[in-house]
Parts: sequence; C-alpha cells; structure tokens
Amino acid sequence: MSASQNQGRPPKVLAISSPKGGVGKTTTAVNLAHLAALEGYRTFLVDADPNRSATEWVESAGERMTFEVEAVEKVQEGSLAMLRELQGFDLVLVDLPAARRSHRRGTCCGEGPAACPPSMR
Ligand SMILES: Nc1ncnc2c1ncn2[C@@H]1O[C@H](COP(=O)(O)OP(=O)(O)OP(=O)(O)O)[C@@H](O)[C@H]1O
Ligand SMILES: [Mg+2]
Repeated sequence: MSASQNQGRPPKVLAISSPKGGVGKTTTAVNLAHLAALEGYRTFLVDADPNRSATEWVESAGERMTFEVEAVEKVQEGSLAMLRELQGFDLVLVDLPAARRSHRRGTCCGEGPAACPPSMR
C-alpha cells in the first residue's frame, strides 16, 4: 500500500501490545507513527495506556511530529476493530497498556486489526 492508494478504504489498524511492561511498546508505536506520517500516510495514534507516555512524547516533540494522537480511557472488547470505521486515515496505531489480557488478539482486537508484540531482541 502506498500513501496515495488508500483513499476511501478503511485504515489499517496496528495495535502494539505485550503482556510485559517496559519492552518498547510506546517506542515502537510512536516511531512507527512518525515514520508513516513522514511517508505521507494519514496516521492516527491512539494512546490507550493510562501512563500516557505516547501522548507526552508526541506533545513534547511539538511540530516535529505531524500525526494525530488521542488518549482514550480504556480499551474495550472489540473497540480496536471499531477503529477501522475511522474516516480520513490510512493507518491507526494503538499503544496498549501492558496486560496479559490486552495482548490477546481475540480478546480486544476482534476481526481485522493486527497485534504486534514488540521485541527488543
Ligand atoms: N528497540 C529498543 N532498543 C533499546 N531500548 C529500547 C528499545 N525500545 C525501547 N527502548 C527503551 O526501553 C524503555 C521502555 O520503552 P517503552 O516506554 O517504549 O516501553 P513500554 O513497553 O511502552 O513500557 P510501559 O509498559 O511502561 O508502557 C525506554 O527507556 C526505551 O527508550
Ligand atoms: Mg508504554
């Protein structure tokens, strides 16, 4: 998919998750969002972690990061799949909190979105 080919299609949803904390979820989510935006993809970062690391990071970067970020209270079952309904974006990244439950694709992602456990290996 190139940045110009996705017009009118639902966005790709990529949730960054791991049962463990401190393994690079937020680093992965913010860097992927930044790189995608630089490539011209209309990118939206959902900060679903109550620690708000992603939001703080993007806010502190100011105009150097050109994608949208929004903090959400809580990820509900099936709510990641609903992100495919968002209009006007090519890519939606989700920074999930560390939780055994949240990294199970079937639990919160429903059909469609991909789960991407980061690795520091
Ligand atoms: N690929 C990497 N190589 C080395 N260090 C990394 C890498 N990715 C992240 N880090 C470092 O690891 C630490 C934790 O990263 P990060 O905050 O992204 O993890 P997290 O999984 O989001 O943590 P939390 O569960 O607390 O939200 C940070 O200091 C970050 O700079
Ligand atoms: Mg984090």
